[in-house]
Amino acid sequence: MKFFLDTAHVPHIREAAELGLLDGVTTNPSLLSKEEGEPRELVREIAKLVEGPISAEVVTLDAEGMVREGLEWAKMASNIVVKIPMSIEGLKAIRTLSKQDIKINCTLIFSPIQALMAAKAGASMVSPFVGRLDDIQIPGMELIQQILEIFANYEVGTELLVASIRHPLHVLEAARMGADIATMPWAVFQSLAKHPLTDIGIERFLADWEKVKNRP
Ligand code: G3P
Repeated sequence: MKFFLDTAHVPHIREAAELGLLDGVTTNPSLLSKEEGEPRELVREIAKLVEGPISAEVVTLDAEGMVREGLEWAKMASNIVVKIPMSIEGLKAIRTLSKQDIKINCTLIFSPIQALMAAKAGASMVSPFVGRLDDIQIPGMELIQQILEIFANYEVGTELLVASIRHPLHVLEAARMGADIATMPWAVFQSLAKHPLTDIGIERFLADWEKVKNRP
C-alpha cells in the first residue's frame, strides 16, 4: 500500500520524503489555507519535493471551469493530479480531462456507486472519506470494502485512495483490505512507527547495557 501525506505543510512533507516512505501528497483548499504563502506556489514547491503524485483541487463548480482550472494545475508539474469533487459537473470534467491524459483524483466520495461512476468517467484515483463517515456513525471502512469488491468484480484499474484518515487503525484496516493508497495527516504517519512495547524494550536494553559496558 502506498503512503501519502494529507497535508500542505512542507517541513513534514520533506521529513517523510527523506525517510523514503512517501509515495505522494494530497492537498485541498482547507489544508492549503492552514499554511502561509501563495497556495499555487506552495503546490509547485511540494511537487518539486516529492516525485509521486500531488493532488491539487479545483474550486469551481461547473464542468467548464473545472476543466480550465484542471488544465492550469496540470501545466504546473508533470506529477500533479487534478482533484475534482464528485458531482455531475465533476464527472463531465473528469471525462474531458482524462481524455487529454490528465490524471484525476475524484474526491468527496461517500458511496460505492459514486466511486464506480468516477472510475467509469476516467478518474485514475477515487478518494472515499472514511473519517467523515465515522463522524456521523456510518462505518467508513465498510465503504472501502464495498468499493474494493466492486472494482474487483469489473477489474477496474482506478486506484482506491483512502482519505479522511483519523487514526492508525484506519491505515491498518486499509492495508488488510488491500486499498491502493492511504493518505494521512502527519500525526497518524508518525504514530505508525510507534509501539509502547518498542519504547519499553529499547529502554530495557539500554539500561542492561549500562550495567555491563564497563566490565573488564
Ligand atoms: O484528503 C481528504 C482529507 O483532507 C479530509 O480529511 O479530516 O478533513 O475529514 P478530514
